Amino acid sequence: MFELTVSVSKTYKITIASDFSLFYERVLPFIKGENVAIVTDDTVDKLYGGAMDGFLQGKNIIKIVLRHGERSKNARNYLQIINALAENAFTRSDTVVAFGGGVIGDIAGFAASTYMRGITLIAVPTTLLAFVDSSVGGKTAIDLAAGKNLCGTFYQPSAVYINTAFLVTLPKKEIKNGLGEVIKYAFLSDTVCKKDIKKFDENLIYKCLKIKRDIVEKDERESNERALLNLGHTVGHAIEKLSGYKLPHGACVAKGIAAAIKVSEKLFGLNGDTVRKMNALLKTGKHDLNNPYSAEEISAQITADKKRQGDSVKFVALKDIGKPEIVKIAVSDLQKILKANES
Ligand code: NAD
Ligand code: GLY
Repeated sequence: MFELTVSVSKTYKITIASDFSLFYERVLPFIKGENVAIVTDDTVDKLYGGAMDGFLQGKNIIKIVLRHGERSKNARNYLQIINALAENAFTRSDTVVAFGGGVIGDIAGFAASTYMRGITLIAVPTTLLAFVDSSVGGKTAIDLAAGKNLCGTFYQPSAVYINTAFLVTLPKKEIKNGLGEVIKYAFLSDTVCKKDIKKFDENLIYKCLKIKRDIVEKDERESNERALLNLGHTVGHAIEKLSGYKLPHGACVAKGIAAAIKVSEKLFGLNGDTVRKMNALLKTGKHDLNNPYSAEEISAQITADKKRQGDSVKFVALKDIGKPEIVKIAVSDLQKILKANES
């Protein structure tokens, strides 16, 4: 078992375990009130819904089951969740449990943060991506027609319980999806190395979350340093949106990191060895790194991104592995670099 404490606007513990044996001790004390809303998706509910209901026995449970997938992270489902809380007389002393992958974490977190201006949120993530990234740090969101994560809050959970046993049923493509974010950490800090990436164990999750925790503690609301966690996301989000969310988030982050390497090569004049080392690290996840969209399509999407500042974007570039740097780049210059690298 591994444990991390996150000290930001709220202090909370992340438990990383290989079963649920510590759930009562680590989570139940934080479940406030008699009413508990479990927000989950249909796949997770079918596989593990019964187990979660069992853990929360004795509470008045309501369950909101969304269809699996990114398209569920929308305003209609957000209203469905908060209306269910209101119709079941949830008060500020009750609790929302986000039980699922990053989609559920983001939308349930957004609902918990806004219902009655904020009720207790517990995160029980079930995907590799949610283990290493989305369940921690307090970003919540829904997507709007104009773009991904355009509506959201910063709202920290009261406890995070990671049970690696969930990985047993996670399809290979979702493991690969999570690996996109794992590789992001390997680029941000040399504490995650190639041999760690091949084992999806508690130690790898701990190492990734430690990197995230340390960054979030310095800059909870992304005024500056937290933007490092967006490595691969500027181009990645654009590709994800252009695909109509058919391409999963982590897979798009991997494509976005491939683009970030090309941009870094141009900006910093990286030498051939450094670029080869970076590309070798990126390939550990065996992602398809081809970008199916034109430079024009991508820059049009980036223009709609919330991270745009006038005609420029904050872009995470790499001087080397473990040496990321936030740069401001004109969207037109980014488009030129992407265009020059189109095959
Ligand atoms: P997801 O929640 O859609 O889960 C992926 C698929 O796996 C779904 O079909 C789900 O039903 C299924 N699944 C979940 N757990 C399972 C299990 N144990 N066994 C079998 N199937 C299971 O997607 P995701 O990749 O977990 O998360 C992606 C989302 O996370 C995106 O919306 C992204 O924007 C968001 N995100 C948020 C943050 C943040 O800091 N808030 C960070 C990174 C990503
Ligand atoms: N983009 C991930 C984070 O800031 O939490």
